[in-house]
Formats: sequence, C-alpha cells, structure tokens
Amino acid sequence: MESMRAVGYTLETAVADIIDNSITADATEVDLIFAAQPEPHVALVDNGSGMSAAVARNAMRLAGLNSRDHRAANDLGRFGLGLKTASISQCRDLVVVTKQDGVLSGYRWDLDYLMETKSWSLLELSEDECRALPGFSALDKHESGTLVLWRKLDQLEATVGDLEAGLNAHMVGVRKHLALVFHRFLAGEHGKKLAIAINFRPIEGADPLLQNHKATLPGPIEKIDVEGEMIELRPYTLPHLNKLSTADRERAQVEGSMRDSQGFYIYRQKRLVIWGTWFRIAPKQELGKLARVRVDVPNSLDHLWALDIKKAQAVPPPSIQRRLRQVATNIIAPSRRVHEYRGRRTNDGKQARLWNVYDDRNSFRYEINRDHPAVIALATQPVGGGESVDALLRLLERSFPVDDVYNRMGQDQTQLDSKTPDDELALLASSLWESLQGTLTAEVFVESMANSEPFDSNPKSRRILQETVKENV
Ligand SMILES: Nc1ncnc2c1ncn2[C@@H]1O[C@H](COP(=O)(O)OP(=O)(O)OP(=O)(O)O)[C@@H](O)[C@H]1O
Ligand SMILES: [Mg+2]
Repeated sequence: MESMRAVGYTLETAVADIIDNSITADATEVDLIFAAQPEPHVALVDNGSGMSAAVARNAMRLAGLNSRDHRAANDLGRFGLGLKTASISQCRDLVVVTKQDGVLSGYRWDLDYLMETKSWSLLELSEDECRALPGFSALDKHESGTLVLWRKLDQLEATVGDLEAGLNAHMVGVRKHLALVFHRFLAGEHGKKLAIAINFRPIEGADPLLQNHKATLPGPIEKIDVEGEMIELRPYTLPHLNKLSTADRERAQVEGSMRDSQGFYIYRQKRLVIWGTWFRIAPKQELGKLARVRVDVPNSLDHLWALDIKKAQAVPPPSIQRRLRQVATNIIAPSRRVHEYRGRRTNDGKQARLWNVYDDRNSFRYEINRDHPAVIALATQPVGGGESVDALLRLLERSFPVDDVYNRMGQDQTQLDSKTPDDELALLASSLWESLQGTLTAEVFVESMANSEPFDSNPKSRRILQETVKENV
C-alpha cells in the first residue's frame, strides 16, 4: 500500500479519478469539499447509484475487478484500482461511505493502522461512525450516493507550509483541471448534465477546442475501424488570436501557450485523457498553433492504447498511426493559412496589399507594394517624391523587425491597433484623393481604393471614399 502511493498522481489527477467513478455510477451531482476543520480533509460526494455493502467491501480491495473484463460502454474504469490508488496517493486515511436502497455502509483504510497491525485490516464503520464524518451531511441529502473522504493529507502538507492557505491554492488547480477533463460531461453531452462544485461553487466546463466559437473551423469527421470498434477523428482550426476573448484564450491555452496546446485531444468515453501532443507523429510548429484534433476512443480499445492506471497516459496503436499522421499534416495546413500573409509579388489580382512577400527558397523579404495607390500618390508628390521615396521605402523594408515579431507572436502576443479606425480612413482617403485627383476619375479612384489595404477590410470604406470624392471636387 505504501509503495502504491508513488504511482505518480497529482491532486488534480487523483480527484479526477474519483469523479470517474461517480460518472460511471450515473451521478448528476458531485460535490467537492476542501476544508481544514475539524481536521484537514477532502470530501467527494456524489448522488450516483451508491453501493451495496458487499460491492462496497469489494470496491475497497485492490483490483477487486479484473482489468481484462469487458466493461459497460459508459464505464470510465479499467483496473479496479483508482479509488484506492488515487486516494492513498494523497492521504493516509481513506473512508468510503455509500448509500443504496436505504442501506448505509462505510469502510476505511488507515495506513497507520495497517502498519500497526501488519495485516490487511479493512475497518468497517458503524452507522453512527459514518454519520459523524465530515462531509456526511452532503451525502445524507441524496437518495443514494457515495462519500469518499480523505484525511491525514500528508502529501498536501508536505507540499504546502500552511495547509489552510495551501488547500485554497490547490482548489484553483483542481477546478481548472476538472473544467477541462470533464467539459463534455459538464455540457451534458452524455445525456444527463453533470454538475460539479468545489466548496459549493459550480465548475463551468472549458472546451479547449472552442467548438462553440463561430470562427472555429471544424474539419470533416473521419472514422477508423480498429478491431471492429470505431475511433473518430475531427480536426479543428481555432480562430486567430485576434478574434479570441481573454476567456476563450484561457480555455484554449491549456498547456500555457497556444503553441504548446496544439495537437491531439484524446477523449476516452468523452473524458479527456491526453491533450496537446502530436505524440511522436509530427513536431509542434509555430504555424500549427491553431491546429487541434479531437480523437474519440471507446474503452474497449484500452489494451491497444497502453492506458496507464492514472489514465493520464496512452500511446496510439501502430495500426492508426499512419492515419493520425495524415490528419495531423492536413490540419496544420489550415492553421498555417490563418497566419500566412497573402501578399503577392506581382500585383495580378484585384486586391492591392501594402506589403508583398518575396520568397526565395528558404529566404524571404517583405516589400512595400510600389503599385499600391497610396505609394503611387506619395511618389508623385511634387516635393520630395520619386527617388527619395523609393529610398525610404527600401530602408523600411530592410529594417522591418522580423525577429522581434517572431518572438512576440511565439509568446502569443497580439498586435495592437491592427485595424484602421473610420476617421483615419477618411483622412487617408481625402489626402489620397487630393494627390490623385488629376490622374484618376472619381469612379476609378473609389473602385481601386476599396480593393486596397487598409480600405478592403472595412465594409464602410466604399461609403467613406464616395463621400470624400463628393466633398472635394
Ligand atoms: N462513487 C461510486 N459509486 C458507485 N460505485 C463506485 C463508486 N466508486 C467506486 N465504485 C465501485 O468500486 C469499484 C472500484 O473502483 P475503482 O476506481 O477502484 O476501480 P475501477 O473504477 O473499476 O477501475 P479504475 O482503476 O480504472 O478506476 C468500481 O468498479 C465500482 O463498482
Ligand atoms: Mg475508477
């Protein structure tokens, strides 16, 4: 038992493992209580089916169920270990009290007592003992359900000095983790909505794929048949950072930065187990930072994924790696497109960009488009035009702070003032019209400006340009 404490759970993954059991037991409410009084404890209470005394007793056994047995399709368990290993990874005293058909049963593993007796002494609790436990009142109000109580929180005590302050700090991390890994349950995707609250504050689900954002681009669903079971893949390209609110960004930056958060999101029975990795299939790239692939896996393929006890690690089976690679490569392309500046060296299209990108194999250069109407207007100015304008433009092109931009974008910074406001557009329009009036008709002017940067991205541009022309004939 002591050795099993070191499997490598964190408080977050341990709590999630206990909630897996609640979901499997059809719970619709899970209450987490972190408290320092009357003694430091963590209580997890659900309103699931509960257990009979015999089942509860068996549930306290290590591997009380065979990991090779077939599991119901909605069962999040696999090893028959989670309840015990997750709990004792965090505490030395585990109590499970459960209620089913009006019958209350309580069992306790106390590691200190085990050490003392040197035997597998599972303690059975009387009804009075159960009722006196912290967290019992939360169980009592449910028709059926289960209370998992952790006391002697030595792991938490070891990592934080002041346990009370430490519990509060930990709650933040746990809240974030649960909002992420159970977001599909919190959204009610499995049929009945699940509510999880920590110290009576409900948790809101946090979808890292931003599936409800209107600028997210979902790709086609692909199904892979593995041993007669279906694995479903769906790529998503997230909106450009400029289009994300702070809350959306927080949801999307599950691994700290957008770049680190790209990759596969593996859901086992809708429960997120692994995220933000392309495994060894593809490297993470700056340009792929908006690319994510949802992978839905049934629990019947656990043996192929080398799922670990904490359900925090798994490896895609070789039989699907080729498909995963294809999907990964295809999805990075749209993410790249969101970032790429579609400048043209030769201005063959209708749109006039202010910048062109000149590509030469692995090198590039940004050039200011000499055919842009604003540049033409400047170059034809009687004073200081021509040669000196061209020299200045070339200077600007060469000193463009490319490295700085790269560094900043890599840190997910967004550009300030990337849109030109209406009044500035109006000013620009009138100064351009002033210098081009002699060479262009009003219609040609309005038409070519409306298709040029920065006018082309503002729907009001045409009106602004028309007004300018009218006012200054
Ligand atoms: N909250 C709960 N409500 C009802 N039954 C529960 C609950 N928690 C545990 N059980 C029962 O106890 C058993 C053992 O749980 P445990 O988490 O140790 O293993 P598991 O869920 O079967 O597999 P895994 O190790 O993969 O989590 C479960 O299979 C279930 O029958
Ligand atoms: Mg379990």
